[in-house]
Amino acid sequence: MGNSIAGGESVTEPKGMTQALIAREFFGVQLHYADVLSAKAEMPLVDAITSHTNFHRLFAYGNLSKQSADPDFLALASRVADIRNADERLDTLIHAYADRPPDPWPSDRFAFGNHFACEAPNAADVVRIHFRNRFNDDAYGPLHASNFNQRRVDLTEMFSFVADRWPNAKVVVGQSWLYNTEAYCRLFPPAYAASRAPLSGPRPIHGLSTWGQFLDFRGHAKPAVVERFKASLHALDVAQPWLSFPYQVLTTSAPMQAFRDEYGV
Ligand SMILES: CC(C)(COP(=O)(O)OP(=O)(O)OC[C@H]1O[C@@H](n2cnc3c(N)ncnc32)[C@H](O)[C@@H]1OP(=O)(O)O)[C@@H](O)C(=O)NCCC(=O)NCCS
Repeated sequence: MGNSIAGGESVTEPKGMTQALIAREFFGVQLHYADVLSAKAEMPLVDAITSHTNFHRLFAYGNLSKQSADPDFLALASRVADIRNADERLDTLIHAYADRPPDPWPSDRFAFGNHFACEAPNAADVVRIHFRNRFNDDAYGPLHASNFNQRRVDLTEMFSFVADRWPNAKVVVGQSWLYNTEAYCRLFPPAYAASRAPLSGPRPIHGLSTWGQFLDFRGHAKPAVVERFKASLHALDVAQPWLSFPYQVLTTSAPMQAFRDEYGV
């Protein structure tokens, strides 16, 4: 079973100011989006900050698809929304973030290596998989070609675990902006990558499955991607705000057999 861990990390050290400062531009683009959405949709800014950014999850208050907003987070969002100056808003957010613990994998996930996790099969024997990144100072990021072999080792371990633990698992699914990139798709069976299709329908945008596209592997926002996005927001369609993001969330699906064949498990 290797290093699979239900529940992920147990580290509770606060993030600290160094890590928080790295996130400044990433926070900035999300606050900017919240501002535009709030104005165009006539939505209170505190609601836009709470439900349409990645902050609630990033600040380790949990996933808003599965819970209601945490009162402490709401108090912070309300404080930030009351500040008029953009830099002061960011300062407030960054100071609050520095004091927060890391956001671990949710407790229902089984983690493999530093980047992959899966959930137990649902009632229809469908297994959902996930990717995350721990920001670091390595020479290359986790999806760089030089790390391809190690990622395949991680995935082989994960699917070997799935095959052993849940022999009836039928289908594997995913959902992420990452499926727009060759660097991610090349890690998986061709049939899985080829199945990708945009996620449609109204939803709040609060996951890294969308917001992750603004980040590099060190945790800094990618300046060119951020600037292009900000410049495009004048055309934000409040009925379908997700369409304003450079990459859409793509859903993927393939039979478990394709993964058994691909990784030899
Ligand atoms: C995924 C992540 C590590 C990529 O960051 P990065 O600095 O580009 O790092 P990597 O070096 O790992 O990846 C580089 C590879 O990805 C490709 N890539 C990265 N961003 C890309 C983009 N926007 N479009 C196309 N390809 C992209 C590069 O071309 C490169 O591929 P190559 O080696 O074949 O040249 C970073 O965006 C991140 O940490 N995001 C947050 C986590 C996340 O998004 N999770 C999704 C949860 S569903």
